[in-house]
Amino acid sequence: MVPPSYPDRIGATDVTVVSPGRVNLIGEHTDYNDGFVLPLAIERGLEIAVRRRTGSTVRLLSDRGGPAIDIDVGRPLVAGTPCWTRYAAGVIAGFQRLGWTIPGFEALITADLPVGGGLSSSAALEVGIATVIEALCGRALDPVDKALLCQRAEHEFAGVPCGLMDQLAVTCGRRGHALLVDCRSRDVRPVPLGDEIRILVIDSGVKHALGDGGYATRRRECETAARLLGVKALRDVTPLQLAEAERRLPEPERRRARHVVTENERVLSFVAAAERADWPTAGRLMNASHASLRDAFEVSCRELDLICDAVGDVDGVYGRRMTGGGFGGCAVALVDATRADAVEAAATTACTAALGHPPTMFLTHAAAGAATDLVSRDIIPPGR
Ligand code: GLA
Repeated sequence: MVPPSYPDRIGATDVTVVSPGRVNLIGEHTDYNDGFVLPLAIERGLEIAVRRRTGSTVRLLSDRGGPAIDIDVGRPLVAGTPCWTRYAAGVIAGFQRLGWTIPGFEALITADLPVGGGLSSSAALEVGIATVIEALCGRALDPVDKALLCQRAEHEFAGVPCGLMDQLAVTCGRRGHALLVDCRSRDVRPVPLGDEIRILVIDSGVKHALGDGGYATRRRECETAARLLGVKALRDVTPLQLAEAERRLPEPERRRARHVVTENERVLSFVAAAERADWPTAGRLMNASHASLRDAFEVSCRELDLICDAVGDVDGVYGRRMTGGGFGGCAVALVDATRADAVEAAATTACTAALGHPPTMFLTHAAAGAATDLVSRDIIPPGR
């Protein structure tokens, strides 16, 4: 997907990076509790078309309009860069801390991902810019270190205390596979998703902003619950232990802990079901995850609940739930591939009736992580 306006706006390309968005199949709000998650990179994302330039200016342009924004990478960057470019600035700062010399470049960013739609457009931008820097410098970071650098950019430059799931999914995505991540050891295990299923993503249209406070509050409540239970993280508590000890917890910490502890179990059960291609069981686990996020963790919203109720009744849907941080964003459904088109049509009708307008939705499958396509590096000398 080469952006049509590209030659007019920055000239010939040296490097093109494609950086996907992600959906999470199951394991929500477990990553910052050292738990388990099962995200996948999707077939939509960002394309970053790059041209080298002399000097120490990085110029960023977006296909969504607005002026070009210049960042001087000749000096150490600190938080405070405007709007969406802060994600790129945070990543550049991470490489500067590692002692890398960042070359000047111009980048045009084209997206086919809703921004603030819960599909990790910010992680796609962070990991995409990191991949650009690796390509221009001719070196690569270890994938987990790269995800950690991008997560730190989000913490320090965007003020969102996110876990590692999104950046790892965008970095490590594998075609045809979801990724089982143990967020304590950071071990990433690809889990094959057969051709017999497809993923339907439905946008609630409600913009979420994780910097708004609900996300950070949930994270603090989980930390309080772990402290009161005498463990390092809620990952260390089994459902049986929680049943015995939860009297010690006040509300809402008790509900929050119940969600996290049961959600970790659901992730592992989902993987076991996926490995035997038992999609009806996997779907039921997704439904249970949504109920827990709605009632115990309280991060769903009216539109997401309406979508899940509507889609849950459609023939060919194994299960559905909200995906990502919540408070808006997208729902994800696990769909029988042989009926995918009929499911999409029926889901559109059902959601339109429930919401009063047709939501944006698309079918997808698991895609590869962020990668470089070296278009004309040998033809265009650096600095032209
Ligand atoms: C956001 C965060 C992730 C994760 C999810 C909830 O997407 O960026 O780290 O915590 O919310 O599962």
